[in-house]
Amino acid sequence: MSVYTLFLIYSSAMGSPYVATGKKRIEEILKEANLKKGKTFVELGCGDGRIVRTAVKHYNVKGVGIDINPLLIFWAKILGTNGIQYKLENIFETDLKQSDYIYIFLMPKLIEKLALKMNKEVKKGAIVISHGFPIKGWEKKLIKTLKRIPFSTYFYRVR
Ligand SMILES: C[S@@+](CC[C@H](N)C(=O)[O-])C[C@H]1O[C@@H](n2cnc3c(N)ncnc32)[C@H](O)[C@@H]1O
Repeated sequence: MSVYTLFLIYSSAMGSPYVATGKKRIEEILKEANLKKGKTFVELGCGDGRIVRTAVKHYNVKGVGIDINPLLIFWAKILGTNGIQYKLENIFETDLKQSDYIYIFLMPKLIEKLALKMNKEVKKGAIVISHGFPIKGWEKKLIKTLKRIPFSTYFYRVR
């Protein structure tokens, strides 16, 4: 078994396997998010950092990428750290208070647990983008859905 496979198993064991957001989808999602220059964009479970990297490059936001998988954080840093702070961290340890935009692509069970933390920490007006799965209990915060196959994207505004 390769080291790479071991790290993929590690991500799955932590609650979400490593499946990257499709490259074509990224620009579409970020455009819909209407990102504002200088705001803080946090990708929770960033994998190789492709979304936060694109957000920083094209929209001049301040980027933060968090992942629990050391191999993915290592790889994300190799791909470029300009304007991005990468942290090897469990998302449940991350301080979300300063986030203006949060991007997630996580499994429903993990999202459900994360929603409890976001309910307490995320400031009013912040936008949470969940790719793949809706956030249970956040139906009233939903502002937009990009319906796509195989994964739709759900945009929420925290109130
Ligand atoms: C489906 S992948 C999404 C990767 C990236 N956001 C994308 O869309 O291309 C989920 C990522 O979440 C990470 N992850 C899973 N559980 C985590 C946790 N508790 N804390 C931090 N990262 C976690 C995994 O290592 C994996 O990279």
